Amino acid sequence: MIGNDIVDLALARKESNWKRNRFLDKIFTVKEQLLISASENPEIMVWNLWSRKEAAYKIYNRETGIRGFFPLRLECFYENVTFGTVSIKEKIYFTLSKIESDFIYTIAVAKEEHFKKIKSIDSAAEIFKRNGIPFIIDSNTKIEKPISISHHGRFWEGIILND
Ligand SMILES: CC(C)(COP(=O)(O)OP(=O)(O)OC[C@H]1O[C@@H](n2cnc3c(N)ncnc32)[C@H](O)[C@@H]1OP(=O)(O)O)[C@@H](O)C(=O)NCCC(=O)NCCS
Repeated sequence: MIGNDIVDLALARKESNWKRNRFLDKIFTVKEQLLISASENPEIMVWNLWSRKEAAYKIYNRETGIRGFFPLRLECFYENVTFGTVSIKEKIYFTLSKIESDFIYTIAVAKEEHFKKIKSIDSAAEIFKRNGIPFIIDSNTKIEKPISISHHGRFWEGIILND
């Protein structure tokens, strides 16, 4: 299982005032808020952790069928700026994040060895959705393959797990 999430930093700046305490308290655990306040660049830490939670949620929702907005239950373990895990209940997902000047992009996987099997998909690919969850149909085998897509502002990213 895979999940991804992209944050357009220019749009995030426009859409959300992350400095409000209510925002931070709603989205981040005490430990995560400490990471944010201790960070050299708190804004980047906010969106880095946010994109990790969203990418992990996309896997969690697929695995369990549980839907909703519960950011405090998705807890980030921040190993470093690019790597970490997100846990929720007994589940743990691995995350790889890319930080650029314009965007932050995170890929989450259920098994760490799956990072090397991830391929990007073309935005022109034919994408189907069931209950809002996207998949493609393999042109050779006609088998449905789960994908994850994310779009925000100027950016679009789609990924698939290769066999
Ligand atoms: C559903 C959700 C994950 C979408 O994320 P988003 O950042 O708003 O939007 P993205 O562009 O990254 O992802 C949207 C795509 O994800 C896919 N998607 C939607 N729901 C999904 C789900 N439950 N699982 C996997 N993929 C999903 C869809 O293909 C959608 O594409 P579409 O808009 O073209 O239909 C998000 O709105 C949400 O409900 N999150 C709840 C989890 C949470 O508590 N987050 C707190 C913030 S840290």
